[in-house]
Amino acid sequence: MIHLDITKIFNTVSKEQVYALEANARKCNAMLHHKNGAGNNYLGWLQLPSSIATAHLTAIEDTAAALRDKCDIVVVIGIGGSYLGTKAVLEALNDSFDWLQDEHKNPIIVYAGHHIGEDYLFELSRLLKGKKFGIINISKSGTTTEPALAFRMLKNQLEKEIGKENAKQRIVAITDKTHGDLRTLATNEGYQTFVIPEDIGGRFSVLTPVGLLPLAVAGIDIRELVNGAGMMENATGQAIPFADNIAAQYAAARNALYANGKKIEILANFNAKLHYIGEWWKQLYGESEGKENKGIFPASVDFTTDLHSMGQWIQEGERTIFETFISVEKPDHEMFVPFDKADFDGLNYLAGKRVDEVNKMAELGTQMAHIDGGVPNIKITLPQLNAYYIGQLLYFFEKSCGISGYMLGVNPFNQPGVEVYKKNMFALLKKPGY
Ligand code: PA5
Repeated sequence: MIHLDITKIFNTVSKEQVYALEANARKCNAMLHHKNGAGNNYLGWLQLPSSIATAHLTAIEDTAAALRDKCDIVVVIGIGGSYLGTKAVLEALNDSFDWLQDEHKNPIIVYAGHHIGEDYLFELSRLLKGKKFGIINISKSGTTTEPALAFRMLKNQLEKEIGKENAKQRIVAITDKTHGDLRTLATNEGYQTFVIPEDIGGRFSVLTPVGLLPLAVAGIDIRELVNGAGMMENATGQAIPFADNIAAQYAAARNALYANGKKIEILANFNAKLHYIGEWWKQLYGESEGKENKGIFPASVDFTTDLHSMGQWIQEGERTIFETFISVEKPDHEMFVPFDKADFDGLNYLAGKRVDEVNKMAELGTQMAHIDGGVPNIKITLPQLNAYYIGQLLYFFEKSCGISGYMLGVNPFNQPGVEVYKKNMFALLKKPGY
């Protein structure tokens, strides 16, 4: 199981201060399970891993196989929770250079609809010209402008290239069962669809078809992902004592630090493949907790890369931060530093060592330096980077986010603030009704 260590925050908040929040953390966990807290109509994710039917996974895998058959490139269209989970899992588990290799085992996954950059869309459209591409179009609400715009353009291109009937075979829509423009469009065009359950919000939807279909297309073992999440579902249930419940402990630790003036949490990885786990996590915690003028600001860094850009600030800037490290215990591959007779680079003191040992010492050295500099440290350790442990990590963060949001006193399952920019944009663009 993934491991949580909160002992390195005890210089800032004592163990007693954290354990003083135990009762509240337990109560908030129970509120999730009893469905008697704010936003309780969005708790479909809570027992999702244990309730996903094998037939559902098979249906997803069958559709993925059909897309894999027909396409060399699959465009995943979506934004926020309809995009970040896929991107995070794929970056973590895929070969970093898969897309550069001549012989692809899996279709290349590219993204659209996650912003409105015209140059990006132009370059994507140019790349897709004449290629065997398909589209997975994802929107829970079915009304989000960014993905709708990207879909209109790419659907148009695909239909022009291979005809409407053939295009239909390469398009899958994932949206609400009945509501939204995407549902209307998919019904009228006759696309295959998957449903995002009504009671699961975007940022909690990675284990629905939103994440599972594109991941299956990319060759990820979605059953292992769900198994891992299911394991964490059991390990963070309301009957699990606080001392064993890592989701409750993480929530309590964060809230104790927040109450002590630590307003910013920096999620740091020492493995570049986890960059987008940080992006996914920022949406999860940012949208869930940042409301009513409250909430820890979630930031993320890639180490050691960002030690050469953000390291100075973290070491000596304003002391309002704490860090959460994600560490991977055992990399998949072994690489040793070679001996060099001339030793012009002075690296022979590392000869024979694993590259990972160097990385681990960088991690330990960073943790010690930052703690000395007044930055409390939480550490999450994954035994390995595989679908099972990533599944655990995703569910761990979701569960803890629900508990933590309730401890903070907000509704973790809405996002009223996201609408404000949309209203202005629609009015400026003269959308009817605005
Ligand atoms: O968490 C959320 O609900 C949001 O961030 C959404 O994921 C995001 O706005 C995309 O919405 P939709 O899937 O409705 O297009």
